[in-house]
Amino acid sequence: MRSLLHLPVLSTVRNPGVKCQKVCNRKRSAEDVFRRSPSRHRERRLLSTLLDAFKRRAWIFAAVGQCHYNGPTMRSRRVTWVLLSAGTVFVAFVLLLAAFGVAKPQADIEQRIDALVARMTLEEKLGQMSQTTFPRGLPMAAKDEIRRGRWGSFFNGGTIQEKAEAQRIATNQSRLGIPILYGQDVIHGFRTLFPIPLAQAASWHPELVRQAARIAAREASREGIHWTFAPMADIARDPRWGRIAESLGEDPYLASVVATAMVGGFQGDSLSAQDSIAACGKHYVGYGGAEAGRDYNTTWIPEVLLRNVYLKPFQAMRHAGVATYMSAFNDLNGVPATGSAFALRQVLRNEWKFDGFVVSDYNAVIEMIPHGYAVDEKDAALKAMTAGVDMEMVSRSYHQNAQALIGSKALDPKVVDESVKNILRIKFQLGLFDNRMQPADNLPAAPSVDALDLAKNLAAESLVLLKNKDGTLPIAKSVGKVAIIGPLMDSPVDQMGTWAIGGNREAVRTPLAAMRGLLGESRVASAQGLKNTRDSSHDGFASAREAARSADVALLFLGEEAGLSGEASSRAFLNLPGAQEELASEIVKVGKPTIAIILAGRPLTFHKLAEQVSAVLYAWHPGAMGGPAICNVLFGDVAPSGKLPVTFPRTVGQVPLYYNHMNTGRPAAEFGRDANNKFTSKYLDVSYTPEYPFGFGLSYTTFQYSSVRLSSPSMRVGGQLTASVAVINTGKYQADEVVQLYIRQLAASLTRPIRELIAFRRIHLKPGEKQTVEFNLAADDLAFYKAGGQLTIEPGKFQLWVAPDSASGPIAEFQLLP
Ligand code: NOJ
Repeated sequence: MRSLLHLPVLSTVRNPGVKCQKVCNRKRSAEDVFRRSPSRHRERRLLSTLLDAFKRRAWIFAAVGQCHYNGPTMRSRRVTWVLLSAGTVFVAFVLLLAAFGVAKPQADIEQRIDALVARMTLEEKLGQMSQTTFPRGLPMAAKDEIRRGRWGSFFNGGTIQEKAEAQRIATNQSRLGIPILYGQDVIHGFRTLFPIPLAQAASWHPELVRQAARIAAREASREGIHWTFAPMADIARDPRWGRIAESLGEDPYLASVVATAMVGGFQGDSLSAQDSIAACGKHYVGYGGAEAGRDYNTTWIPEVLLRNVYLKPFQAMRHAGVATYMSAFNDLNGVPATGSAFALRQVLRNEWKFDGFVVSDYNAVIEMIPHGYAVDEKDAALKAMTAGVDMEMVSRSYHQNAQALIGSKALDPKVVDESVKNILRIKFQLGLFDNRMQPADNLPAAPSVDALDLAKNLAAESLVLLKNKDGTLPIAKSVGKVAIIGPLMDSPVDQMGTWAIGGNREAVRTPLAAMRGLLGESRVASAQGLKNTRDSSHDGFASAREAARSADVALLFLGEEAGLSGEASSRAFLNLPGAQEELASEIVKVGKPTIAIILAGRPLTFHKLAEQVSAVLYAWHPGAMGGPAICNVLFGDVAPSGKLPVTFPRTVGQVPLYYNHMNTGRPAAEFGRDANNKFTSKYLDVSYTPEYPFGFGLSYTTFQYSSVRLSSPSMRVGGQLTASVAVINTGKYQADEVVQLYIRQLAASLTRPIRELIAFRRIHLKPGEKQTVEFNLAADDLAFYKAGGQLTIEPGKFQLWVAPDSASGPIAEFQLLP
């Protein structure tokens, strides 16, 4: 190692444009040299290793050869030679893999982190713990700050060229050459926009979700992005909350499966691969429980609920190896999540042994002041740092106050060191110090054909058919003329949905464009009817009516614009905004079969509309290929198979409404109670049941489920049970079905939900085809958390359903024995 100590920096070759005279003349450590010229360093190590290997082989051969001279035949000498050669080549190959970073032991990284941290000043450490954004260009002042090691990370800003330049400055001109970590909200695709996360959850198809995240990672990484602020796995039980669009729905199991798939897609097999990016589980934790669905609002979530529902997808992401988490904006049981030692230290670090890093949400550290939890920024910095927030997003309280806090002994410098190590660990794992390529110095690439194809398939599988009276759908391709009507029939930006930073409207195929492509212009009549979804003017109604009159079928593209869901987009009403319901009534009056296709970021309430029209297809915000995906489903090329990842209420007054609730002492219609009994848990003015239950979604075909067969009427703790059901396609179309397994424990030391999803399977059946679906149930699947984090399995009686949704299916029963 000593011989490497005073080598000149070799980076000028890679970045000829950078003037680094002063830097080049400085003396560098082995760490620097290895980082700056990893290939040269590896080449040397590899060469000497290979030489050693050959020397050793020659020696062994000589020794063995000696024996053979006195011994048997030339043939056996040749065999020995061949074996030894093969062995050497094999050893050399393994060394080659190791030298090129295929196997990068964590221990090696830890040593490098320690060596680096030992050389860092407090200022540089605080730089690593600070993140900011330069949305418009890279100012001169920023370049200077990068040289001084002021920033460890940037997000959501900068062109490809600016990113590359900032990275060059950081690695070539700062004292320690620590690379910058680039983050971005790559939430449901980057250049290729996939359906919004809630829609992806509606596909119940984790493999497609994983592939979509993989493509997003590829597209983002080649433009210099290393880290995405996704998946967002906040359990969302309240559709007023605009961020339900970014969520994976209301169910902890489904959200866990989908979040795991996303982490796998973003991070790939190894973080160090060029096309992998680090994922970020957010918002940790409880953000989706915002009171009254109002964004950023208070949450009160008892520990038992937190652990059994809200923490579950975050724990699943931990199992999936998520690199980072983001601390949430909300306060949780009286303590802001960003200052919660319970969530960040006890659960995340002590219980889950997380060794990546935690970034705060945007300004969330100093927002602990208005929360009423910190007196000033200094206090906020102290509380966030000691709670375990490693990196501060946007606000600057760490940088401005840590020195004084350490000076006054309020802050242990070890806390800073730990955070810096957590951050550097991810930078090392990403290969930023070693082999990560600089972003290509060119224009953003357009979505590839493969990416668009996947976007189309995933969108098609996320569509949920809610009504299909008398088989109105699919539409025969021989149809004469189709009327395309409504404010979302041709609105690329709205179709992309919330968080579409890398998206390009030119790459979006709208329903109107797709329909024209499919049928030809002459067979498509179109009229928006309303300028946008909030428009309440009837001025466009006449031309919309005219379009419907001229056609054989009317397709109404209604819903919500992209801006009506997402961050800071909570709504107190869930109805179709503007005059959309009136427009729909006018079109229905024309008398043609009318189909409503609803594009939205949340469950909406549209009871009257659903009664009026012949069919309802819920399309969410389906992304770039939403148009062709919708066409494929409407015309029967693909049978709809999406299932709701969230309960749809009849009216906003029922909210929060979710399927996995506890029973009451006076349940509305259970246990044979008289539905007219006033003193049960219900409303006087509307049913207590949802409009559409969780897990619901129709197909063009029909599926018949047999009753459930259990391998045994009981199982022991530690044992297993098989539940099987035969599913037959009794209709005319081949189609996918998502078979869902629910359980309920009837009595336990804590009340348990009336149903809980614990597994599902997507199957494909041709008409008449039958498949037996088997679920192996382990007693562990029946476990739940008690206060204090104690995971328990309690013997007792269980009910079980294998069903097409959360509200149907015959009940089976079994006993869990001690
Ligand atoms: C605030 C949002 O809450 C978070 O989800 C996002 O990742 C950050 N801003 C960065 O844009």
